[in-house]
Amino acid sequence: MKLLSIESSCDETAAAVVEDGRRVLSSVIDSQVREHQIYGGVVPEIASRRHTENIVQVTRLALAEAGAALAEVDAIAVTAAPGLIGAVLVGVNFAKGLALAAGKPLVPVHHIRGHVAANYITHPELTPPFLCLIVSGGHSHIVQVEDYTTYRILGRTQDDAAGEAFDKAARSVGLPYPGGVALDRISRDGNPERYPLPTPHTAGKYDFSFSGLKTAVINLSHNAAQKGEALAPEDLAASFCRKVSGILWDKLEAAARDTGERRVAIAGGVSANSWLRERVEQGCQENGWQLYMPELPLCGDNAAMIGAQGYYELLAGNTAGMDLNGRPYMEIDSGF
Ligand code: KG4
Ligand code: ZN
Repeated sequence: MKLLSIESSCDETAAAVVEDGRRVLSSVIDSQVREHQIYGGVVPEIASRRHTENIVQVTRLALAEAGAALAEVDAIAVTAAPGLIGAVLVGVNFAKGLALAAGKPLVPVHHIRGHVAANYITHPELTPPFLCLIVSGGHSHIVQVEDYTTYRILGRTQDDAAGEAFDKAARSVGLPYPGGVALDRISRDGNPERYPLPTPHTAGKYDFSFSGLKTAVINLSHNAAQKGEALAPEDLAASFCRKVSGILWDKLEAAARDTGERRVAIAGGVSANSWLRERVEQGCQENGWQLYMPELPLCGDNAAMIGAQGYYELLAGNTAGMDLNGRPYMEIDSGF
């Protein structure tokens, strides 16, 4: 079964054609990141307008690269929550138009479920149940993926998402938005021992908190500036990356131990972080657990992951009517 999938929940306009939830026939991503960079973050109205301008061309390209006509796809999948609502609505309305015109089923997909499903593409042998750490620009969760469309949330962030913390730490050392990937890059030459950072405390055993860490980094750079001293950005980046990946791993390890889950996955934009990837690789090896990580191009936002999850939503009968609406917020364990 072939799905045409659309993703427009943030600053990437993306379309893909995916077969049987696992095989990517095409994946087109038009990133607006440069345009938002001068504002230090995504400007929602600009994002919506760019999606509106580009979505037709991006979709045409995805169909052409897959060698598929619209009439040949079996369903249209679209990110319908969560995300910047104006941006989400562009994709939702476009997908509704396509589904209506072509007479195809419309499949709404939860964006974060999509991030988890990126692992199905990279690891064709992966099937639920497994444990997943989801770390993106807007979310940090530990979930048990009980089935393709059934999730149990074990832990979540109490304040900032991991990606937000990376972006704010990056900004405090002068890196442009979104700084996570640049912070990761410069950290490779840094000394992770140089700047000791606090370990946050959380009420829930598998919950996260990143706002204290963010404040610690900002304070370090303010104090240095007041003393007229220069911070070593590479060392701060390395200290921050090591700290955050250590926290993420510790919580994931505790959740895996307590649940007895021996198959562990990571997902979301921050799952591209080299320190996190190394930490979970080492930890899983020590425990004898099987680790699943999306290949790097599938960690960030893309439509292929929406097509992968969309396939399983379709199999579960989770289609929508022409009254489908987008939602800015939605839990991963609830339905449309
Ligand atoms: O999943 P994603 O692409 O979008 C959301 O759904 O939010 O995640 C984007 C986040 C950004 O905060 C970005 O800085 C972060 O992922 N990110 C990274 C890395 N690559 C992307 N953070 C740390 N290290 C990276 N290599
Ligand atoms: Zn995302």
